Amino acid sequence: MKPLELPLIVGHRGASAYAPENTLASFREAKKRGAPWVEFDVKLTSDNRLVLMHDASLKRTTGIEAMVAETSYEAIRKLDAGLWFGPSFRDQRVPDFEETIALLRELGLGANIEIKPCPGREEETAQAVVEVLDRIWPSDLPTPLLSSFKDTCLAAAQQKGPHYPRFSIFERIEGPWRERAQAVGAVGINTNGHKVKPEQMAAVKSAGYLLGVYTINEGPKAAALRALGADCIITDAPDVVLSALPG
Ligand code: G3P
Ligand code: MG
Repeated sequence: MKPLELPLIVGHRGASAYAPENTLASFREAKKRGAPWVEFDVKLTSDNRLVLMHDASLKRTTGIEAMVAETSYEAIRKLDAGLWFGPSFRDQRVPDFEETIALLRELGLGANIEIKPCPGREEETAQAVVEVLDRIWPSDLPTPLLSSFKDTCLAAAQQKGPHYPRFSIFERIEGPWRERAQAVGAVGINTNGHKVKPEQMAAVKSAGYLLGVYTINEGPKAAALRALGADCIITDAPDVVLSALPG
């Protein structure tokens, strides 16, 4: 596995300011708007297939009153994840992880794969992600990054796929963050860029971690965080952030 080459800009759930989040349409939009990588959220269906969905419930993005963990792959794959969005796009159904990887290859996009398990499915979700990556991740794409709010997911990923770099996600840099990141062998930390303080950013950097910030959609804010040491800006609007950052 090649070393991690973290890009400066990562499209959040694709380019979710412009297209329905976590859909193939959103990844096409991210590419069009200059993102070299995308972030997306993966979780398991009731029959153990990985699909892209942020929430535990299908309601917000598909209008269906059901939980992902209680719905089959076949049923979820029929759902339109873009009806709520406004404009309609090609490929706005709920995608699975494998077809997402195929599109990333076609577009030449790298990936920050956020393991976002349904409650109680932390280990199996991380293991399933590693299994798919080992089987089909294209060798001509950059090494993918695994990230999660859940230490259990990161520990399971470390166990089954130690060759994939990991980031801990902390909403705030507080409490035993160093110990938690170290325990899962994280090489970096993603944190909420609207909450993090300059001294916390400095502490993360001086502890030797790469630092990503989410979800930054305003150019001046992105530039300020970059100047304070952020290595990666995760954004719904990659074109906006791209035009605000020098080089
Ligand atoms: O991975 C960064 C960011 O996506 C974490 O928060 O809630 O948007 O998945 P969320
Ligand atoms: Mg996410």
